[in-house]
Amino acid sequence: MKLKIDDRIEEVLKSFKLPDPIGFGTTLAPIMITCDFKEGQWGVPSLLPYGPIQLNPTAKVFHYGQEIFEGMKAYRVSKKGPYLFRPLENFKRFNLSAKRMAMPYISEEIFMETIKILIDKVSPFIPDQSGDSLYIRPFMISTEDHLGIAPSKEFKFIVVASPSASYFQQAKPLSVFIEREYVRAVEGGTGQAKTGGNYASGLVSSIKAERLGYSQTLWLDAEKKEICEEMSGMNLFIVKNGNLVTPALTGTILEGITRSSLIRIARDHNIEVQERSLSLKELIQGIKDGQITEAFACGTAVILKSIASFGEEDGTVYKIQSKESEYNYQGKRVRGQIGAFLKEVLLNLQEGQLEDPYGWRVKVPSSVDTDHKIIKNYDQEASLNC
Ligand code: COI
Repeated sequence: MKLKIDDRIEEVLKSFKLPDPIGFGTTLAPIMITCDFKEGQWGVPSLLPYGPIQLNPTAKVFHYGQEIFEGMKAYRVSKKGPYLFRPLENFKRFNLSAKRMAMPYISEEIFMETIKILIDKVSPFIPDQSGDSLYIRPFMISTEDHLGIAPSKEFKFIVVASPSASYFQQAKPLSVFIEREYVRAVEGGTGQAKTGGNYASGLVSSIKAERLGYSQTLWLDAEKKEICEEMSGMNLFIVKNGNLVTPALTGTILEGITRSSLIRIARDHNIEVQERSLSLKELIQGIKDGQITEAFACGTAVILKSIASFGEEDGTVYKIQSKESEYNYQGKRVRGQIGAFLKEVLLNLQEGQLEDPYGWRVKVPSSVDTDHKIIKNYDQEASLNC
């Protein structure tokens, strides 16, 4: 793959210093990737110093929100790695989001190689404490300068990266607000796509949640507001009678890569996982009668965070009576919190502290080449509308 490299790259890398503390998403790596789509094709990507991009005020992204993104992490704990975790899943989901949002597909080569080049260059700035990482944000925006409501013909793919600590700074578990007024996604809508609008429309609820003292919103189905779906940027799991339950993917929920990894790890440790409809009634009743003994949120940024309680707008709180469950570990039946156990296994896999039987961990080579596998038979329609 060809790449244009800005002359200032070495200089900005040399003068970059990691602040302390680094926070989440606030410290930006000093370089970024951009690549433009024009006249039906992607151009040559550029490696540039991180900085403002110039767009006309009528660029379609500002008016019609044609935008998609991904969240990925590179790990370099104890000087191992850097490793990516299941990056092909992010690539596939990016193109699924592109399809839903009438945006052009991007090739695996541009997506993967540019990300690996960026990671390689900023590798010395990846924090090495367990739980810390380089948070990578590939995204695509519509840039055509036109106010007509039609899919853009021009786009920009950008990758930025942020050396980051935990998403939630506070150690205490989440208290989750049950949102009974607004909804996040409808059948046939964009709930399954990773597009900015889904997050923007949830912000009104996060203001309400914060005002009421909650730390997250739980979204319900749009039709009857009876079924639990997900939280804003995180999937939901509960432990009921020792089994894991997570809302099934109905088309309105984002298919989390952390979600699917936890399901696989749990099943491989003889923990039963039920992907099914979880009603709000069942959630509340299960907490009240003590059958639900754990709940947690998961996602790339958050990893896994336990939930202490769910609550209503009127201040009613359903507090989980936390209890240990049984599962298999290293050939033995052990007792413990399932969420804490899954988080430990997942993090150890991601950070390179555990042998990876799944082939999920991808080492980023230090002089990046094209050694990764190109997906064959992947639906590579050149573009939908361009
Ligand atoms: C991620 O987990 O990567 C997301 O995009 C969610 C957001 C809350 C940061």
